[in-house]
Amino acid sequence: MKFENVESTLDVKIPSDPLERVIGQDEAVRIAKVAARQRRNLLLVGPPGVGKSMIGQALSFLIPKPEHEVRVIHNPRYPERPFVEIKSRAQVEQEEEDMNAAEGYLVKPEDVPPDVAERLGYRCTKCGFISIYTETTCPRCGQPKVQNVNQGPFGDMFNVLGQALGVQNNQERVTTTRKYGEKEEVIEYERANEMIRVLDERTLERKRKMDRKSPSKVIVPINRNTFILATGASETELLGDVRHDPYGGHPQLGTSPYERVIAGSIHEAHEGVLFIDEITHLGELQRSILTAMQEKKFPITGRNPQSAGASVRVDNVPTDFILVAACNIQDLQQILSPLRSRISGNGYEVLMEVTMPYNEKNAYRYLQFISQEINSDGKIPHMTVEGASLIIEEGKRRAMIVDGKENALTLRLRELGGLVRAAGDIAVSLNHDFIEKKDVIEALKIYMPVEEKIAKVYGNMGNAISSEATASQKMSGYYGGSSFPYADGYR
Ligand SMILES: Nc1ncnc2c1ncn2[C@@H]1O[C@H](COP(=O)(O)OP(=O)(O)O)[C@@H](O)[C@H]1O
Ligand SMILES: [Mg+2]
Repeated sequence: MKFENVESTLDVKIPSDPLERVIGQDEAVRIAKVAARQRRNLLLVGPPGVGKSMIGQALSFLIPKPEHEVRVIHNPRYPERPFVEIKSRAQVEQEEEDMNAAEGYLVKPEDVPPDVAERLGYRCTKCGFISIYTETTCPRCGQPKVQNVNQGPFGDMFNVLGQALGVQNNQERVTTTRKYGEKEEVIEYERANEMIRVLDERTLERKRKMDRKSPSKVIVPINRNTFILATGASETELLGDVRHDPYGGHPQLGTSPYERVIAGSIHEAHEGVLFIDEITHLGELQRSILTAMQEKKFPITGRNPQSAGASVRVDNVPTDFILVAACNIQDLQQILSPLRSRISGNGYEVLMEVTMPYNEKNAYRYLQFISQEINSDGKIPHMTVEGASLIIEEGKRRAMIVDGKENALTLRLRELGGLVRAAGDIAVSLNHDFIEKKDVIEALKIYMPVEEKIAKVYGNMGNAISSEATASQKMSGYYGGSSFPYADGYR
């Protein structure tokens, strides 16, 4: 195959849209776009390594960013039933602003009243020179920097003593009053390295307001990943948990229940995509997924009955996610049927392609695939067109021997990615600037699927198995050569 203006995969542009990086799955990509726009679920059915996870991830880039943050707040009357609190993005941002405003503002030590600067340890009482409070003597006149000492009968003595002991006797914070128009208002000055923080009455009021707020913990932050992978998730990972507390939430010793609440994947995926690989492996947990989808909320409880967390429960934690589930064709029947009808009732089922026709356009897409793999690997050089032609040949061969398709290219691309990397490693070890044809040839020798190697050595998989099996196993008839799925070589 000839490609215009392409000498290596370096010349092949990688699309910025992650869905366009998925090769040969045009139908699945088209439906994923609809699912993202309409917030529908997706069931992707097909063998490993054809792009199911890729599509799920790409879908998460197409949906709007989350609009809500989820927190649990302390319930003072009944700490083991913390409340859920949902904050909008605007509220979260407003709070952040308030928080910053409650920090007051910074001024130079020159800009506060001289006695305040002295008491905070910036200003020399003798010569008025300003230096940072960590300098205990004035760098200009050498006089110890002490605060004004008319503060009681022991002030003087304390200063002398303090200096002898090397103790700093000036203050970290000074509260005083100042005239504000007609009124007198309280004002606080606080050390902040070279600067002084000023907290006026309005700031102090804000601070008091924040301190009065119920303590809370963010369990699903506003800025979060919208693609949550729940492959082989355990129950606690999937549904959340409440950590154990050896002090059983004792008010002084323990950690409050609300602080021990941990969100599960179903909660973290709120407003995003929950991707579940091999969904049938979840077994009974599929029911919980179904409930979360139906109710759009799911409680968090301690899941270990032995633990002090078991008595804690947070109700109504939101779980409004798009489910993208993946499974093999063989496992399709094992999906919990109400869950499956839930997915298809409000979404789409897609059968993934395993091959695509061999033509110039698709061969070029293979170049794009190789370029993507090299790019995301980051440790191997690009590939010459001659090298890539061999990968294309291999893709054609695999479409034939694995899926029995003539004149086609395999879309089991995870495996082919492994071949590209193996060739890349060889090129690197030989200091080649590009992955060359001969590097791919070498890689093909070692990167043969093990079933294929076995078929070469033993004739077929069945023979291999029976030559491994013990005589008694053979007698039990379990290892019948021809009934084994790989008996015809390599499928
Ligand atoms: N259709 C495809 N287009 C481009 N690359 C693919 C495709 N399918 C698989 N790959 C490559 O293989 C890797 C694994 O694919 P993945 O999406 O996890 O497959 P699956 O989820 O179907 O098992 C991807 O990260 C990508 O590098
Ligand atoms: Mg995957």
